[in-house]
Amino acid sequence: MRVVKEAARFEYTRLSGPAGETDDGGDVIAGLSGAQKTLPCRYFYDDRGSALFEKICELDEYYPSRTERGILERAAPEIARLTGPSELVELGSGNAQKTRLLLDAHAQRSHPLRFLPIDVSEGMLKASARELLSLYEDLHIQGFSGTYEQAFAALPPRSSASRMLMFLGGTIGNFDARERDVFLESATSAMAPGEYFLIGADLHKDKDILEAAYNDSQGVTAEFNLNMLRHLNRRFGANFVLDRFAHHAFYNIDRHWIEMHLRSLGDQSVVFKDLGFEVTFKAEETIRTEISGKFDLAALTAEFAAKGWEKVAAWTDDRGWFAVVLFRLRPDRIVTGQ
Ligand code: AVJ
Repeated sequence: MRVVKEAARFEYTRLSGPAGETDDGGDVIAGLSGAQKTLPCRYFYDDRGSALFEKICELDEYYPSRTERGILERAAPEIARLTGPSELVELGSGNAQKTRLLLDAHAQRSHPLRFLPIDVSEGMLKASARELLSLYEDLHIQGFSGTYEQAFAALPPRSSASRMLMFLGGTIGNFDARERDVFLESATSAMAPGEYFLIGADLHKDKDILEAAYNDSQGVTAEFNLNMLRHLNRRFGANFVLDRFAHHAFYNIDRHWIEMHLRSLGDQSVVFKDLGFEVTFKAEETIRTEISGKFDLAALTAEFAAKGWEKVAAWTDDRGWFAVVLFRLRPDRIVTGQ
């Protein structure tokens, strides 16, 4: 762990390697050793992958980012009013474009501006912080490059009247039900009664719309998916040949999630030099690189309620495609699960 003071108003703590590498690759070996091979989706977000995700957000077919932004443009003033002065802790802050809407709303009410971004991509964390500092004269930023779990453990005591944890973009959909339960448990433990949680969730909708969003006509999503292999080559000395794999994404209606896979275009094996690990692929065999769940708003709200989070307000777009929900941790919450 290393704390870097970049400027009077910006310091960040490096909780893991410069692209979010957290361990010895045990997660990679475990994922590639199962019957259905999987890889953790945070390996998308090296600096190149984070830039590709920004490109995805500009695509016509990729509605979530744009839709959520539209919702926040309307809701941010009300959120700042409801929470009062509150520092913003954002998981997967990325380029922090949507964070600005909340900073603007707090600035409007003359609240102190304090931002604690958490992102696996250190390059993205620094670039977005520098941009925000140039835009907001009184903003203080304390960033963390690492995983959510690492950041929850490293969060300083709050220095504002309240604190709001933000998890936008629909990224909560990257967890399956069990992982979401574990995540919610640790997020809840990191927060104090009366504090807030702002969630962006993608909702159930037509299969064709969903599949188009993850199979864009320009192939940016395919590039984003394949970039994970390039990242692993660099990080663990692997020898994936990118054009021997193909992007494959579809909506799993039973599970209500998009699955992204990389399909092997032949029998092949890949060596991870740094891990002393070799994996073989049969032709057509896939690695599942991501799930992206689509939610029923009432069911999601109930999951939060079970952890002690009461819904303060929820906003959706006209088409009901995406939801932003503000929760508050009940002062009298009963701790379950342990
Ligand atoms: C950033 C996780 C919300 O699941 O839609 C975009 C990532 N994957 N296109 C999503 C992603 C493929 C995105 N999240």
